[in-house]
Amino acid sequence: MKIHQYERLWLVGAMVLIVGFILTITYGSVGLGISMVDDEADALAPGDIGEDERFEEPRVEQVGENQYEVYVVAMTFIFQPDPIEIPAESEVTFYVTSQDVIHSFTVVGTNTNTMVIPGEVSTLTVEFDDPGEYGVICNEYCGSGHHDMEAQLFVLE
Ligand code: CUA
Repeated sequence: MKIHQYERLWLVGAMVLIVGFILTITYGSVGLGISMVDDEADALAPGDIGEDERFEEPRVEQVGENQYEVYVVAMTFIFQPDPIEIPAESEVTFYVTSQDVIHSFTVVGTNTNTMVIPGEVSTLTVEFDDPGEYGVICNEYCGSGHHDMEAQLFVLE
């Protein structure tokens, strides 16, 4: 009789755990206050890039005294704009998207490196202190011209 009760207890306990796990998975992000990455906010259909005001004209935009925003479109097998020109000692936020396949936006010799996914906007902010000339390359294999996919970034005096 005693064993039976314990067995029952374990069964109930197991069920509670199982239901608990399912609830955690289903509602965990709400109940526990975990915020999931909101990939809806910045999403755009790759075919709509030309109509998206952020990307219809890839460009460098000055938004503050030393602050710039650069809207970059990656595609087989170029980056636009090319070259990217920004003044030294500026803070630059890159918004990068792809119009076709997965690429990367990698500024050689810096830690500026992000995957670029069609339909998504990769955002990163970088400070460029010293003037110089940097290569921008793609390090995600994207097709026959992958190894030639490059652009230039000039940090001007
Ligand atoms: Cu683009 Cu590799």
